Amino acid sequence: MADEPLVLGIETSCDETGVGIVRGTTLLADAVASSVDEHARFGGVVPEVASRAHLEAMVPTIRRALKDAGVAASDLDGISVTAGPGLAGALLVGVSAAKAYAYALGKPLYGVNHLASHICVDQLEHGTLPEPTMALLVSGGHSSLLLSTDITSDVRPLGATIDDAAGEAFDKIARVLNLGFPGGPVIDRYAREGDPTAIAFPRGLTGPRDPAYDFSFSGLKTAVARWIEAKRAAGEEVPVRDVSASFQEAVVDVLTRKAVKACKDEGVDHLMIGGGVAANSRLRALAQERCERAGIRLRVPRPKLCTDNGAMVAALGAEMVARGRRPSSWGLSADSSLPVTDPHVPAPDDASAGHSHEHVHEVSKENLYS
Ligand code: KG4
Ligand code: ZN
Repeated sequence: MADEPLVLGIETSCDETGVGIVRGTTLLADAVASSVDEHARFGGVVPEVASRAHLEAMVPTIRRALKDAGVAASDLDGISVTAGPGLAGALLVGVSAAKAYAYALGKPLYGVNHLASHICVDQLEHGTLPEPTMALLVSGGHSSLLLSTDITSDVRPLGATIDDAAGEAFDKIARVLNLGFPGGPVIDRYAREGDPTAIAFPRGLTGPRDPAYDFSFSGLKTAVARWIEAKRAAGEEVPVRDVSASFQEAVVDVLTRKAVKACKDEGVDHLMIGGGVAANSRLRALAQERCERAGIRLRVPRPKLCTDNGAMVAALGAEMVARGRRPSSWGLSADSSLPVTDPHVPAPDDASAGHSHEHVHEVSKENLYS
């Protein structure tokens, strides 16, 4: 609908330069430039390489998004950007770009939370988020169970990983198996031809005295690495497909078990799963099976919206505009450890601490995009 907010969102928290444009809950453009290939030979994301790549990709990616959406920058109702959490230098590039565009165009600026954005993106696929929403966020940088009654103002952490993130575990095991980086997609592929019950790997933090909603993958990672080493030391061939399937099963078993338990305990009858690991085919299938059995509705966005992208940041920005949330000030800074409980970073109450957005309209907008 034409009266819904038109927002451009910028995401640079890790190795993807994402620029998305949405109108309300409708996706208009989702342009992503990834530097993942530049990190592959290091087996993980190198922050300085990522920052430089963002700098180079930023303006072309913004232009591409505007072109794909068929909108003019002057039509935007706001610009949102990931303020954190993420890599400090990488976030800084996005925040600086967002400020520059917002200031020059005379648009309100919204610094938003990367994790809340991963949840909010589901609106683009399945419509308005039910409230409250239970969310399982699993990626290379985070593994959390979150409960939100309003994605613009109330996100409550129920549990998180106490060591490695789920995606990190996939990446590390892939490295031990010499499968390259990122490890998730390739392990997912091998696992399809393997036996998930071939090797009984441990399920972290599932004992009766363990915290119900926290995760731990470091013990599993060590167990898998040791198992592989023992095979190699004995001069035996490592059954990559069975190891992949058994490792993957251990991860997704714990993730889905805890997420369904959280829904039941909190009386929430639907679950959303987001983050890069939500692209995992076995996680999707097992979550579907267990949710159905428990009478829970499962919402998982398509894989492209699960991995880092700008559309998710635009989706949350549009929600901020729609709900009349206060924009950020020009003093907005990147916060590598922005708490998950802050869906956005509003300007301080004290108006003198930030610049009024009214001033912005005096800035010339001529030739900005020529
Ligand atoms: O959300 P994302 O793009 O970036 C972060 O914020 O981390 O997630 C990337 C992570 C990587 O660890 C990658 O191995 C994992 O998501 N991943 C997968 C799959 N596709 C990506 N993990 C398991 N199965 C997949 N199919
Ligand atoms: Zn992410």
